Amino acid sequence: MKHYFKKSKINTFLVIYIIIVIFFASCADDNQDIIPYAYVNYTIDLQNPVYIDLLNVSGSAYIEREGYNGNGIIVYHSGIDEFKAYDRTCTFKISDNCSVEKDENSIVNVVCPCCKSQYELMNGSVSKGSSIKALKAYRTSFDGTYLRIFN
Ligand code: FES
Repeated sequence: MKHYFKKSKINTFLVIYIIIVIFFASCADDNQDIIPYAYVNYTIDLQNPVYIDLLNVSGSAYIEREGYNGNGIIVYHSGIDEFKAYDRTCTFKISDNCSVEKDENSIVNVVCPCCKSQYELMNGSVSKGSSIKALKAYRTSFDGTYLRIFN
């Protein structure tokens, strides 16, 4: 009888251990997420006052309802006549649908409001936090007036 209880206790611990291992393994997989494809073909007229923040180098602006799941795109004026565009979906756990936001403390970074991961606007890479993958970048072309963001 004593042996039976001892064995069942060990089994209980074993089951709990396996559940914990599976839980953390699935979280780790989640962290490997990449942003799924979303068709993007969007043109900005830089003379439109809505995009006034994009006129100066290091300025950035949101494009709402574009990109993966409509989470938005952030455009960054990275150099003279050079622009970067990123999907705002945080790459840490895309199922959370958290959109990165401008960092109040730095014009060159964005931050995920959910996990606090921080990304650099110059290349989309992670500079701080739990995320390990860079933001998804879109292509850009600029003719002096119109900025096109596309796949
Ligand atoms: S998105 Fe879930 S944590 Fe950044």
